[in-house]
Amino acid sequence: MLVSLVSFAQQEYAPKKVVAIIPLPKELKTSDGNFVLSAQTKIVLMNDAKGFKPEVDYMNNFFKTNYDFELPIVNILPTDGNYIIVISPEEKIGQIENYDLSINQNQILFSSEGNAGIFYGMQTLIQLLPLQKSTEIKIPCVQISDAPRYQWRGMHLDCSRHFFKKEEVKKYIDYLAMYKFNVFHWHLVDDQGWRIEIKKYPLLTSIGGKRKETIIGKPAWEKDGTPSKNDKYDGISYDGFYTQEDVTEIVAYAQSKYITVLPEIEMPGHSLAALAAYPQFSCTGGPFETFTKWGVSDDVYCAGNDETFTFLQDILAEVMPLFPGKYIHIGGDECLKERWKDCPKCQKRIRDENLKNEEGLQSYFIKRIEEYVNGKGKQIIGWDEILEGGLAPNAALMSWRGIAGGIAAAKQKHFVVMSPGKPCYFDHYQSKDKIKEPLAIGGFNPLDSVYLYNPTPKALTEEEAKFIMGAQANVWTEYIVDFKQVEYMSVPRMAALSEALWTPLDKKNYKDFIVRLKLHAPMLDKMGVNYAKHFMSIK
Ligand code: ACM
Ligand code: ZN
Repeated sequence: MLVSLVSFAQQEYAPKKVVAIIPLPKELKTSDGNFVLSAQTKIVLMNDAKGFKPEVDYMNNFFKTNYDFELPIVNILPTDGNYIIVISPEEKIGQIENYDLSINQNQILFSSEGNAGIFYGMQTLIQLLPLQKSTEIKIPCVQISDAPRYQWRGMHLDCSRHFFKKEEVKKYIDYLAMYKFNVFHWHLVDDQGWRIEIKKYPLLTSIGGKRKETIIGKPAWEKDGTPSKNDKYDGISYDGFYTQEDVTEIVAYAQSKYITVLPEIEMPGHSLAALAAYPQFSCTGGPFETFTKWGVSDDVYCAGNDETFTFLQDILAEVMPLFPGKYIHIGGDECLKERWKDCPKCQKRIRDENLKNEEGLQSYFIKRIEEYVNGKGKQIIGWDEILEGGLAPNAALMSWRGIAGGIAAAKQKHFVVMSPGKPCYFDHYQSKDKIKEPLAIGGFNPLDSVYLYNPTPKALTEEEAKFIMGAQANVWTEYIVDFKQVEYMSVPRMAALSEALWTPLDKKNYKDFIVRLKLHAPMLDKMGVNYAKHFMSIK
C-alpha cells in the first residue's frame, strides 16, 4: 500500500521530479538518473574527516535497520564501485548547521564544516530513500546547498499536565531531528505536577509529582468565569517524574541529534505542585494540594521570603548541570498577584526595594534569579510577562501573548524567541470541525497558518530583527492525554513550522509544501506516527 502510494505520486508529478524534502532546502537542483546504493557501496571517511564518524555510524545504522546491510567504511577513494563520501572543506568540525549534499550516479557527497551539518545532510538523504526493502536502493540525483534561516528552531512539550514516558520523549526528539529542529523546550513543572527529581527536596516529586485526581473536560470557570461545584473529577491518582539519570539520558540522546534541551522551571507562578510539597515558600503557608484542575493557581512563591530564593537556587543548582545548553527557562508567566498584595513580607519587600507595585516585585524576583543563574555561567529566558516592571539585564524573552512582547524586547536589544498563540500553540484546534476533533483548549491554528508564519515582525528594523533568534511551537497538554494525541496535535504542523524556520522566505510555497507532504506521509506511516490527516484532502 505504501509502495503504491509513492509510485503513484511520483508518476502524477512526472516529468518534473518532485523530491519530497521537508523542510525544503535553501538550494535544490534535481538531475536525471539515480545513485544505486547496495551492500557493495563503500563509505569513504578520510582521516581529516574522522570527526564525522558518529554521523557515519548513524547513517550506517539506519541502512542496517531499514535495508539489512551495513556498508564498509574505508579511508581512501575506491578505484571501482560507487561510494558515499563525507568531507569537511575547512577541517572545522562542530556545531555548524550548513551542509552540501551532492548525489550523482557514482557518488554521494556530504560536505559541511560541522557535525550538525552532516547530520542534517543525512536527514535529507533519509527523506530521499525509498521505504521498501531492496538490495538495490535507487536514490535520485540532486545538488543541495542548505542552511537554516533561523538559529532557534524549537518545539516544546508540557510533561507536567500529562506525563510522557522517557521512550515517548525520545520519539518526540526523533521527530524534531527529522525536521531539523534544534531546541526541545521541556516543560517540567507546573501547578499540576512537578516532574524532575531534585535530590535536596525529595518531596517535590513524592508529593508535587502526584495529584489525587484530574478534572474531566473543561472546568466551569473557563465557560463562565466562575468556579463550579459541578466540575467532575476522575477519582484516579496521577503521577510520574524523571530521575536525574533519565534526564541525563534524554539530554544525551537529544545532543546526539544536535538538539539542545531547554528545561523550564516555572517561577514565581505556576508553582502550586512545589508549594504542595514545601508550603513554607508560599505567602500564606498553605496547606495546598497539587492542582487537580486546569488553570492558574492564586498561590505562588512568596517574593518577600529570602528562603524562597535559597530554595529555588538550590533547585537550579541541581538542574543547571544536567543541561549543557546556554539557557535556563524560568517561566515567569501568569503569576497572579493577589497573595503578594495581602502578604506583609511581600509588601515589605516592595517598600524596602523601592518597587512601584507587584509588577515591580515580579521584576525584582526575576532579576534576583537571573543574577544567580548568570553567576553560574548560564542565561535566563522567560515568557513575555518578564517585561512587566522591567526586563532583567541579560534575559532572553519568549513571546507568547502575540508578538508585541517580542517586538518590545528586540527593540531593547534582548534576544527573542517568537511563540505567539496564533499560530504557534499546537494545543489549539487544527480543524473547524470540532465534533470530529479530540477536545482541545480552544483556538484555531490550521496547517496553512503555521506554514505561512513569518517569525520576523515587519515592525522591526533590520538591526532589531537580528535579535529574533527564531520561533517555536508549544504543546500544552491539559487536554492531550497520551502520546498518540501529542503526535496528532504536533504532526504535520511541526513539519509546516520547520519550513517557516528553515527555508528562505522567497522559496516557501504552501501548495508545493502540500505536494511534498503527501509524498512524505508514507514515511510517517512507516514510522507509526499518528499524524493528523486533514491535508490529504487539500487539492
Ligand atoms: C503560557 O502559555 N502560559 C506561556
Ligand atoms: Zn509573600
